[in-house]
Amino acid sequence: MDFNIAIIPGDGIGPEVTAQAKKALEAVADEYGHHFTYTEAMMGACAIDATGNPLPEETLDICEASDAILFGAIGDPKYDNDPTAKVRPEQGLLRLRKSLGLFCNVRPVKAYEQLIDNSPLKREIISGADMSIYRELTGGIYFGEKHLSDDGQVASDGCSYSVEEITRIAHLAFKEAQKRRKKLTLVDKANVLETSRLWRKTVTEIAKEYPDVAVDFLFVDNAAMQMILNPKQFDVILTENLFGDIISDEASVIGGSIGLLASASVGKENALFEPIHGSYPQATGKGIANPLASILSAAMLLRHLGLQEEAASIETAVEKSLELGFSTEDLNPKKPLSTSKVGDFIADYILNPEDTNRNFKNIHAGQSTII
Ligand code: IPM
Ligand code: MN
Repeated sequence: MDFNIAIIPGDGIGPEVTAQAKKALEAVADEYGHHFTYTEAMMGACAIDATGNPLPEETLDICEASDAILFGAIGDPKYDNDPTAKVRPEQGLLRLRKSLGLFCNVRPVKAYEQLIDNSPLKREIISGADMSIYRELTGGIYFGEKHLSDDGQVASDGCSYSVEEITRIAHLAFKEAQKRRKKLTLVDKANVLETSRLWRKTVTEIAKEYPDVAVDFLFVDNAAMQMILNPKQFDVILTENLFGDIISDEASVIGGSIGLLASASVGKENALFEPIHGSYPQATGKGIANPLASILSAAMLLRHLGLQEEAASIETAVEKSLELGFSTEDLNPKKPLSTSKVGDFIADYILNPEDTNRNFKNIHAGQSTII
């Protein structure tokens, strides 16, 4: 099949990791006889440097015309350290999410058996943990009215949600729960926030349409604690924008590294796939960034396009790389592979999953016949 894929490498390690995801997509195209046309576009600090605009009009057009978007990372320390900057890289991503109506952000988290002993959390706590976080992505405090008083002494960020905004993502989260272990946890702060009370009321109503799904409610502070105490209790987590941002970074510890967590941001017409990690500026250009979150985002992209088997082939290759310890230094500090070599291994494994003549042992010495 033919698909148009927009690629936004973005800032920092974004270009390095998306290049590996592209290798995986190309391997899939070869192996399964598909044809992907890639169009690169700019967003973030690099776009500000080139055009003054973190989301150039051309980027938006390319994304709108695509079947799916693969995005790397955004952010640059020169803006992080300057709270007075009027134009910020992150505005590019936020505007893109809003303009394309990508309201539903899905962040799957699971404990990879191969990595459990890398985690700072105990094996018995995380082994078997497997959840999917549904984060609302185009509303809440991220997009409320912002204000800074003229004298610079008072600032505010408004937070609002409508029943419609809650309803559309809640249905998707319930449907996902039906396909999984049939449990949905709404994470909110309904003891304090009016918006959270609207979430609870709306989700309670919608739950009646899904009698096979067990629903529970957790305040976000308790949820943050439960995530570390007993992550296995979670199946589908549904939550608002800011809580989802925070809790998904926390949940990434269960997966062994934030460098493993992929996400899908889905709207009515478009869908974007990106790692949950940031631009990791300290690692830029060093070949040490873990490309697996980007590669797994490419798998989510394929699944979205209906290419299930193809997506699974990427996931199997990722599992294999973890099993063999062919990983970047975050996962294998003793004998790390570079970002690009991990990408080469994944692509090669997709193309030759049955090849028994692989010379895996020599990979570290860079002598392998397969990479
Ligand atoms: C994420 C990121 C973004 C967010 C930033 C870069 C705006 O942290 O995708 O989780 O806060 O949504
Ligand atoms: Mn985040």
